[in-house]
Amino acid sequence: MVPLGLVFELVLPLILWADISAGVGFRFASYIHDYMVLQKEPAGAVIWGYGVSGATVTVTLWQDQETIMKKVTSVKAHSNSWMVVLDPMKPGGPYKMMAQQTFGTMNFTLRVHDVLFGDVWLCSGQSNMQMTVSQIFNATSELSNTAAYQSVRILSVSLVEAEQELEDLPEVDLQWSKPTAENLGHGSFQYMSAVCWLFGRYLYDTLQYPIGLLASSWGGTPIEAWSSGRSLKACGVPRFTASDFVAGPSQHSVLWNAMIHPLHNMTLKGVIWYQGESNININRDLYNCTFPALIEDWRQTFHRGSQGQTERFFPFGFVQLSSYWSAATSDDEFPEIRWHQTADFGYVPNLRMPNTFMAVAMDLGDRNSSFGSIHPRDKQTVAYRLHLGARAVAYGEKNLIFQGPLPEKIELLTDKGLLNLTYSQQIHVQRQDKIFEISCCRDQQCKWLPAPMNTFSTQTLDLNISSCHDTVVAVRYAWATWPCEYKQCPLYHPTSTLPAPPFIAFITNQTPGYHSKDMK
Ligand SMILES: *[C@@H]1O[C@H](CO)[C@@H](O)[C@H](O)[C@H]1NC(C)=O
Ligand SMILES: *[C@@H]1O[C@H](CO)[C@@H](O)[C@H](O)[C@H]1NC(C)=O
Ligand SMILES: *[C@@H]1O[C@H](CO)[C@@H](O)[C@H](O)[C@H]1NC(C)=O
Ligand SMILES: *[C@@H]1O[C@H](CO)[C@@H](O)[C@H](O)[C@H]1NC(C)=O
Ligand SMILES: *[C@@H]1O[C@H](CO)[C@@H](O)[C@H](O)[C@H]1NC(C)=O
Ligand SMILES: *[C@@H]1O[C@H](CO)[C@@H](O)[C@H](O)[C@H]1NC(C)=O
Ligand SMILES: *[C@@H]1O[C@H](CO)[C@@H](O)[C@H](O)[C@H]1NC(C)=O
Repeated sequence: MVPLGLVFELVLPLILWADISAGVGFRFASYIHDYMVLQKEPAGAVIWGYGVSGATVTVTLWQDQETIMKKVTSVKAHSNSWMVVLDPMKPGGPYKMMAQQTFGTMNFTLRVHDVLFGDVWLCSGQSNMQMTVSQIFNATSELSNTAAYQSVRILSVSLVEAEQELEDLPEVDLQWSKPTAENLGHGSFQYMSAVCWLFGRYLYDTLQYPIGLLASSWGGTPIEAWSSGRSLKACGVPRFTASDFVAGPSQHSVLWNAMIHPLHNMTLKGVIWYQGESNININRDLYNCTFPALIEDWRQTFHRGSQGQTERFFPFGFVQLSSYWSAATSDDEFPEIRWHQTADFGYVPNLRMPNTFMAVAMDLGDRNSSFGSIHPRDKQTVAYRLHLGARAVAYGEKNLIFQGPLPEKIELLTDKGLLNLTYSQQIHVQRQDKIFEISCCRDQQCKWLPAPMNTFSTQTLDLNISSCHDTVVAVRYAWATWPCEYKQCPLYHPTSTLPAPPFIAFITNQTPGYHSKDMK
């Protein structure tokens, strides 16, 4: 009888030998695939995958039979993973890429083709990010408009939850693809995100080089699901208790773990985000902490995961909540989330949210939306406003107006019964007597009263405050779930047609007027 130990000694190496030569276990990360876009210069794109511990991996990039670069690494022992950082590449393509694993005399090769270099943006959030092109206004013409955008490539991450941070995506709904009417209009809320696609398309119109778009969003989910344990702890978010434990995608960190963390080793240009509706009734008062904390945590994690290739303060854009037609919602909930989305500044970027940009959307309400008024169908304007922010903040375009007017001085003219607002930009005004309100107080008892518009000029606006016979302590604008009809808010910037964002500002008797830092 042959001793058992000898069987193992003889047979195991044979199995290993066979596995390696067949390339078993050797693969790229799930999202490295034909048609992908890799981040262009000045960053280097990270390429990684799994293999046999100790094997050598050679990554080669070539174009028209000519080798552009070769990078050699080895498979790490514990994680069985390998990683290389490519040299910074100018935008363009297509390239072919090959990864070859060699182990002794055995080798195995993986190939991807039609790889472009450009800017890679990650798009996340809840259902308004998930809504597809087939669900928006002018869907038919938008879906047929893909021929000119074959260098805008798309990928959509599957809806998965996990209890622990995952290293790779368990599943991808739509692997890197060229855009077609089929994969952009796949079905309601099923890949690919319309806001993400339109944002990329507008960027392409300006930049004229490849854009890679990864959509990773899930309807009805609160910010807590997309946040790491670190950021939730930093904001003092109460832990789920056994009694309110509901299994599903709303649990703490489950989507961060499965749908975002697996992307942290890739090199990105930036992130866009459309979320907040689900936090109307979940930790709403903490959103002014949880949102800035999420941005900071994603930035740290992606910077570290990409070996410093993704910028430490990469650009982060978001959509401020639109309007909702409902009798059930109290009139403070939407305005409070909108305000908290700016960390209570009213505008971005600001001290707590550096390098961010925002698309105001409160004037894009759609009470007749076939998907409920919570899902407005004009996503073109949302993406257009967002791309203006990206051009100014992420691409440094000078003199581009990317946000609407806010008052930079507020002066109480008590003797005249007026409140004088001086705006930072020109204003286009359409008279509306209820959209400004003042807080009128006597003995700590305050109530909000409408402050009708009195006179206005190109940059100033006077409000009539004669209805308050006591002390005016604050003023607010558009503080309502549904502040105005479609594109009919009373204040816009005249040429960019960007709406004035909602704000609340306190006025103190001692120091009439305020500076933006007082807007709390
Ligand atoms: C890879 O293996 C093939 C045979 O399977 C051999 O022809 C080739 O030379 C090997 N290449 C390297 C780099 O080892
Ligand atoms: C957030 O807003 C709440 C009120 O909604 C306020 O009490 C709190 O101080 C704010 N926190 C931060 C960090 O701004
Ligand atoms: C991804 O980045 C993390 C953090 O730097 C690192 O621990 C991990 O090993 C990286 N993954 C791969 C495949 O290199
Ligand atoms: C919504 O529908 C109502 C009646 O169904 C119609 O009168 C109104 O014009 C529609 N509003 C918009 C903005 O389409
Ligand atoms: C839909 O198409 C019409 C006609 O081209 C255009 O006027 C309108 O602005 C489009 N709507 C949106 C939301 O883009
Ligand atoms: C409001 O302030 C502006 C700028 O300081 C000033 O030009 C304007 O005359 C003021 N309006 C009134 C009614 O005092
Ligand atoms: C403010 O409104 C009241 C009531 O409509 C009116 O009597 C008053 O003249 C207005 N004040 C100014 C400064 O126009």
